[in-house]
Amino acid sequence: MKLEKEKFYRILAPRPAVLITTIDKEGRINAAPFSFVMPVSSNPPLVAFASALPRDTLSNIRETGEFVINMPSEGILDKLWICSEKLPKGISEIEKASLSEIKSNIVLVPRIEESFGWLECVLEFEKEAGDHIIVVGRVVDVEVKDIFWREEKLDVPKAKPLLHITGKDFVVAERVVKVD
Ligand SMILES: Cc1cc2nc3c(=O)[nH]c(=O)nc-3n(C[C@H](O)[C@H](O)[C@H](O)COP(=O)(O)O)c2cc1C
Repeated sequence: MKLEKEKFYRILAPRPAVLITTIDKEGRINAAPFSFVMPVSSNPPLVAFASALPRDTLSNIRETGEFVINMPSEGILDKLWICSEKLPKGISEIEKASLSEIKSNIVLVPRIEESFGWLECVLEFEKEAGDHIIVVGRVVDVEVKDIFWREEKLDVPKAKPLLHITGKDFVVAERVVKVD
């Protein structure tokens, strides 16, 4: 079946769904899910996501130069969904979703405690790309909850990362297959 070209990303799926936290210059926290996300360099460690416009996430990053990529598990899917609601700037999605903020190690932007891991990032650069802005961040701290880290790898069946298909459809990654 041929698809509309604009929908190509629907077969480049499922994609990891993350929750990005940011703060504005007054220190008010914001959280939103993103799935146009990818690693771009390991040394230096760089990660990218693509933001449509307008997004409080993007305007906060432009104000403060920092963000945290929080890795959500299946258990907080409903809360992630609440964070995708368009709330007035300054109203905390984290509070609305009953998620918990915890201090980050390096950046001022808080982490979401209920995640299985965190990438603390500082803005490296941004680049316009079609109807999105690619935001590239330098990872300045990375941490995973001990119980989800096994033999130098993420214990995927335990962490149950959320992957986005499109709209309200997600996949929970649970089964590992190995090459012989
Ligand atoms: C699973 C999921 C993935 C999303 N991925 C993206 C994305 O990659 N880029 C984007 O601009 N918006 C994405 N969105 C939409 C934003 O999360 C949504 O517009 C949100 O309200 C933006 O919040 P903000 O204005 O506080 O940044 C996604 C939504 C969901 C539910």
